[in-house]
Amino acid sequence: MTDYLVNMEVTPEVKAFFDPATNTISYVVKDPASDAVAIIDSVMDIEYAAGRITYENADEIIAYVQDNNLKVEWLIETHVHADHLSAAPYIQSKLGGKIGIGENIKVVQDTFGKVFNEGTEFQRDGSQFDKLFKDGDRYQIGEMTASAMHTPGHTPACMVHVMGNVAFVGDTLFMPDSGSARADFPGGDAGVLYDSIQRVLTLPEEMRLFMCHDYGPNGRDIKWETTVGAEKQHNIHVGHGHTRADFIRFRTERDAQLAVPTLIIPSLQVNMRAGEVPKDKDGVPMLKVPLNAL
Ligand SMILES: [Fe+2]
Repeated sequence: MTDYLVNMEVTPEVKAFFDPATNTISYVVKDPASDAVAIIDSVMDIEYAAGRITYENADEIIAYVQDNNLKVEWLIETHVHADHLSAAPYIQSKLGGKIGIGENIKVVQDTFGKVFNEGTEFQRDGSQFDKLFKDGDRYQIGEMTASAMHTPGHTPACMVHVMGNVAFVGDTLFMPDSGSARADFPGGDAGVLYDSIQRVLTLPEEMRLFMCHDYGPNGRDIKWETTVGAEKQHNIHVGHGHTRADFIRFRTERDAQLAVPTLIIPSLQVNMRAGEVPKDKDGVPMLKVPLNAL
């Protein structure tokens, strides 16, 4: 078992930004000892029917960083999202920082390079990103040391990022009353997801967990923060008393009923390129729609 860096004495400042169009929560997380920050899972806006991309969400984060004189060191993608487009390159162009994702991005690029029939010019080695995290990798945000935990199952490249007494779980977990994310995308695996969640739940009970998504089940308000202890006790899919076999059965049945995410086609093409929009042979920004391939 890899030794993740847990330092419950370090309390980073976490600012959340909720995108109601995709139910995504992006974060600016600040080292308590300096002005250094990481931005987690930013969102680029798209009006897909019109083929129009805009930056309202990203500009809000940029304004927050500038207004508070913060220094962006990292732009972290917890995984290749299938439901929204990353704004990491746009924010990087304004504020700097390194774009990082799990090293299994190579697997995701290989899978979807085929789905989208990308030519040999599409590199499948993760080189579009500035940093590929391995399980247990440590990195600095100012004076704060963060670490990356590989948590496959939802996708092969999923990572949870632990920073002091908080962790950003991506889609590895949802709020306790929402359970877990689907595991039926190419490269997903319900049993592997269950095992990854169990690893997350070995973190200290008081550790604060921040979600990438929340959909406000049963009419409750949107929430994005919980704790390891609350997930262990109350998570409706993996909490107290749910076995691995139960989880696999439930998850498989549930996933078979879920619709394909509305933005999966633009999201994958952009996010597997670290948030860059693909271009056609003449250099014009262009997206494809592969037929009967997903
Ligand atoms: Fe996801």
